[in-house]
Amino acid sequence: VNDPLAAVLREIVGTQNVLVDPGIRAAFETDWTRRFHGVSRCVVRPGSADEVAMVLRACAAEHAAVVPQGGNTGLVGGGVPRGGEVVLSLLRIDGIEHIDPHLGEVTCGAGLTLGALNEAAGAHGLRLGVDLAARGSATVGGMVATNAGGINVLRYGMMRSQVLGFEAVLANGSVIDRLEGPAKDNSGYDLGQLLAGSEGTLAVITRLRLRLVPVLPHSAVALFGAPTPEAAIDLAQRARAHFDDLEAAEFFLPEGLDLVRHHTGASNPFRRRWAMYVLFEIASRKPDVLERFAEFMDTVPGLGEGQMDGTFAQDAMDRKRLWALRERHTEAINSEGVPVKLDVAIPLARLPRFLDEVRGAVTSFAPSARAIIFGHLADANLHVNILGADGHEEAVTGSVLRLVAALKGSISAEHGIGIAKSHWLGLTRSPQDIAVMRAIKRALDPEGILNPGVIFTDTARPVTPPARRR
Ligand code: FAD
Ligand code: MLT
Ligand code: ZN
Repeated sequence: VNDPLAAVLREIVGTQNVLVDPGIRAAFETDWTRRFHGVSRCVVRPGSADEVAMVLRACAAEHAAVVPQGGNTGLVGGGVPRGGEVVLSLLRIDGIEHIDPHLGEVTCGAGLTLGALNEAAGAHGLRLGVDLAARGSATVGGMVATNAGGINVLRYGMMRSQVLGFEAVLANGSVIDRLEGPAKDNSGYDLGQLLAGSEGTLAVITRLRLRLVPVLPHSAVALFGAPTPEAAIDLAQRARAHFDDLEAAEFFLPEGLDLVRHHTGASNPFRRRWAMYVLFEIASRKPDVLERFAEFMDTVPGLGEGQMDGTFAQDAMDRKRLWALRERHTEAINSEGVPVKLDVAIPLARLPRFLDEVRGAVTSFAPSARAIIFGHLADANLHVNILGADGHEEAVTGSVLRLVAALKGSISAEHGIGIAKSHWLGLTRSPQDIAVMRAIKRALDPEGILNPGVIFTDTARPVTPPARRR
């Protein structure tokens, strides 16, 4: 292959770490949902911040666009090329440098997966406070870049709340080292917080110092069937008020339960069909978790009288079984086809209205499409997954997101904007907001090298075409 840039990159990272073979590159070029795909110029896999800096300088010199990539589990198309960019994979920068069990901190490479981090931290009775179903592949760098949320946000916050320090490389190759330092530090702008949720458009994150939380030895999981969304919301609010150690309050709907059961062979925990299912988890150092759940159930009106139903897990297997009904939605949906995935937030009080209207918003543009909806109830974060929108993806996206905007929600609660929603940013961010964001982007990446087209449509630019292959 005669691309001169690839030759320069080989000098920096070694021949084996510049992937040009289309078969080997393929896994880096299509996203997890299979909806987004682009042919890269090459995939480069640096092993250190210095190598990342040299790679970015080489790319900037050629005016070549770069797509940073971690575990490629992102759901908005921001981690795969649109066509002709260099994919900069962080997966080789995955070392665990230090775990401080007393302070509850880890210093590690951005390419470390959540699963590997938790395995190592688990030896010290610790884990990351953010957890999500993609834990086996999602990297901590990608999780900071998307400000990932997941299932424990109500207790520990989103990914930005875990960041204590970082190292990152700007588009011009300069390295920002804010890895060490005191927890309290108000000496100027907080650059780490700026990178959280920046989706690879401002800098490449290379190392992180992250807060860890204790692995709590006793946990209890309960699943409820509620007759209406209003009753489910009321239940969630009761649980929040009742428990001071609630760590998850998740929901799904009957169509989603059917789909997961069909996909996994799981049995139905309830005899009848409910309008909304709510899963709670509490976790504690104290062993009385099951007793406390039983007490809570006694306070729920209508439970045991046919107006609501509830079941709780007796052991670890049971907990896993109940969680699977919620967590396996994503893969069950993907096994049915390529979904349009919309991750939105709605003010909690308007959630029932959204659920009433969203199906109409979908079918008015794609009559045979179906929406599978589930998510993080405590955060009023809904994952609207549309199957069968073939050919009407943008129209359906616009229709649902306009409804979200009308209800004063957000078009992205936790997955980011990526390229999937860049056309719709103006629906829930003001022109003033967007002007400030653009100014930040220009200041940090004036040449528009990093992740063009992500967040802002018009940063997309014609990229250097891949060199002709022999
Ligand atoms: P990638 O997909 O590789 O990249 C994501 C974005 O971050 C891209 O824009 C990329 O350019 C940028 N990026 C990646 N690494 C870096 C870096 N080192 N420096 C700068 N930019 C970088 N998300 C949630 O928030 N909550 C969930 O509950 C959740 N559950 C999921 C469940 C499943 C089954 C799947 C497949 C995904 C889920 N996700 C969830 C989405 C996804 O896992 C997260 O967005 C995750 O944070 C992405 O990490 P990654 O390493 O795979 O990043
Ligand atoms: C989840 O909460 O399971 C995710 O964010 C993944 C998805 O939306 O499919
Ligand atoms: Zn989610």
